[in-house]
Amino acid sequence: MISKDTIDKVFETSRVEEVIGDFVNLKKAGANFKGLSPFVDEKTPSFMVSPVKQIWKDFSTGKGGNAITFLMEHEHYSYPEAIRFLARKYNIEIEETVQSDEQKKHADERESMYLVSEYAKNYFHDNLFLSEKGKAIGFSYFKERGFSDETIKKFSLGYALDEWTAFTDAAIEKKYDLEFLDKTGLTIVKKSSETGGTQKMFDRFKGRVIFPIQSMSGRVLGFGGRTLLTDKKVAKYLNSPESIIYHKSKILYGIYQAKQSIAKEDNCYLVEGYTDVISMFQSGVENVVASSGTALTSDQIRLIHRLTSNITVLFDGDAAGIRASIRGIDLILEQGMNVKVVTFPDGEDPDSFAKNRSKEELKNYLEDSAQDFIQFKTSLLLEGAKNDPIKKADLIRDIVASISKIPNNIQKEIYVQECARIMQISENVLFNELSQNLKKEQREVSKRQASNRSPFTGVVKEVKQVEKVDRLMVLEASLIWVLLIYGNIEVDFVDYVSEIDDVGKQIIKKESYSNTVSNEIYVNLQEDEIEFTNTVFLKIYYEIINRLNQDQTIDIDALTNHQDTEIAAMVTNILMDEEQHNLSDWERHDILPQSKEKGLPKFVPDVIYNLRRFLVKELIDSILVKLKPDQSDQLDKKEGFNKELLKEAQDYIGLQKILAEKLNRVT
Ligand code: CTP
Ligand code: MN
Repeated sequence: MISKDTIDKVFETSRVEEVIGDFVNLKKAGANFKGLSPFVDEKTPSFMVSPVKQIWKDFSTGKGGNAITFLMEHEHYSYPEAIRFLARKYNIEIEETVQSDEQKKHADERESMYLVSEYAKNYFHDNLFLSEKGKAIGFSYFKERGFSDETIKKFSLGYALDEWTAFTDAAIEKKYDLEFLDKTGLTIVKKSSETGGTQKMFDRFKGRVIFPIQSMSGRVLGFGGRTLLTDKKVAKYLNSPESIIYHKSKILYGIYQAKQSIAKEDNCYLVEGYTDVISMFQSGVENVVASSGTALTSDQIRLIHRLTSNITVLFDGDAAGIRASIRGIDLILEQGMNVKVVTFPDGEDPDSFAKNRSKEELKNYLEDSAQDFIQFKTSLLLEGAKNDPIKKADLIRDIVASISKIPNNIQKEIYVQECARIMQISENVLFNELSQNLKKEQREVSKRQASNRSPFTGVVKEVKQVEKVDRLMVLEASLIWVLLIYGNIEVDFVDYVSEIDDVGKQIIKKESYSNTVSNEIYVNLQEDEIEFTNTVFLKIYYEIINRLNQDQTIDIDALTNHQDTEIAAMVTNILMDEEQHNLSDWERHDILPQSKEKGLPKFVPDVIYNLRRFLVKELIDSILVKLKPDQSDQLDKKEGFNKELLKEAQDYIGLQKILAEKLNRVT
């Protein structure tokens, strides 16, 4: 287990905006940062990070929390994994308390697979430098391809020896479990039935140079292994099989090394192969990733969209090859991203092109020859359709399909004009086709939206909506809200006390006194022994009371960073909800939000009185239910019982009146 000291140090050092900034492109918005939600497709940013409060909130999914919870949500880390990740990021040494064998065994499957993969990456990499064969074969191969030592290290390239079990033996020697070697596909295990009784195993990668495939945060997820043979019958690349940590469709090769440059350059170059990425990177164009030879998926585009809205697709093949692969690009337009394309001279690909050129030459070529995608597509298809009216009609449909994916209307219109000009047809033809297309799409969208609308609008509000009938929940939520936002503030409260004056007449006297909001609530609830019924509110309340009892103020950080994720999530939601309201009020009215603090002397007692009245009313109701005549009871016994109950009910009704009066006076 990680020691408490280490955990504290991680919390002290981590900055939520830095941690999230590695995954989401954040832009300053007042005191906060805003960005596109990394959890859903969206065009307008609803993801917010507060550097002051050290919390984040995704308004389109309702998720929120601190740096740790972000890593847990986004990278699917466990709590200790997230702590370890941050410790690594901030160079904090991890102090371990002793771990039992039992605990080790329970470290989850996913983590074990990551560990095995990390080991394999290092093992293959070391082969290049430490083993004779590795140096002679693997290292020389990379050198021949022009990769520098620095590049080889940056991408952790490696070599798998041309032996049956070299890797598996080494891993087992290091006590890695065969189960996870098998599950990651690094070792192929032939079960007994296939091998006549015995279990046989051998390395998946044999005599191949190795390209580790890493997640955005640098986790090793899988490998690509390139053969060194020129034999056409041998597959050029062998890749890790799909597993719970390796989903080919959600990964982009090079994203770990490229992410900072992509965000900084505000553009991402998309290529096909591992070697294209590496050569361009080495030449100084670092904002480059590869789809690894498969058609681009929405998940992959979303990965890029977290960092930038601009993609430049680099095509190497001939016209026929390009025609086949441009279909996938509509997916990029759909996400509201800007797409450009670059083609290369015959016989060249990004790898070969980058190799013989300086950084300046490469950059200039990429910038100068980048064409807008839709114009490029129009010209390309037009070549094949010039004198063929049927093909031309197909072309119009095809182009309009692309244009209709663009969310921005002005941009759509510009494209229509531009494409009409290229195709030498009237704009009206395109506009008509476009409007038909859009109508169809809108019908589909509204169907989709109806079936999966996200209900989130913030906890307090959510509680209000879901539990409309449950007044109690609203009151409890209001108390927690005011405690969190204003708990430490000192307020001048007024109270009305009844006294008997000198002549024996009852008078109501107004008394003012000063108290912190938290203390005022605490004292009042304690007086009536009121407890929160919602378990999360209760937990938060106890945390706050604990601090007050030790003469300390409420510590919001301790709550948003609380290890109890229910507490952390609820507090974050309430705080960010507040932030959002301030922000939107400000945006709507173009004025600074009015100080809510002025309302506190009225708001706090208001909620408390209402809560009391509600609870008293509940008591009265429950008595009234008991008072209902019940035939089966004996009459005399029932009468005595009823009398007591009636008295009790009357007392409560009296109390209810007093509370109502008090409330009226304050209001
Ligand atoms: N690919 C694959 N399996 C194959 C062939 C290709 O997974 N059998 C993927 C790899 O990710 C490869 C990409 O498709 O990087 C592009 O293929 P290709 O252009 O053939 O490979 P390069 O990486 O360009 O390799 P090289 O430069 O050595 O030819
Ligand atoms: Mn290639």
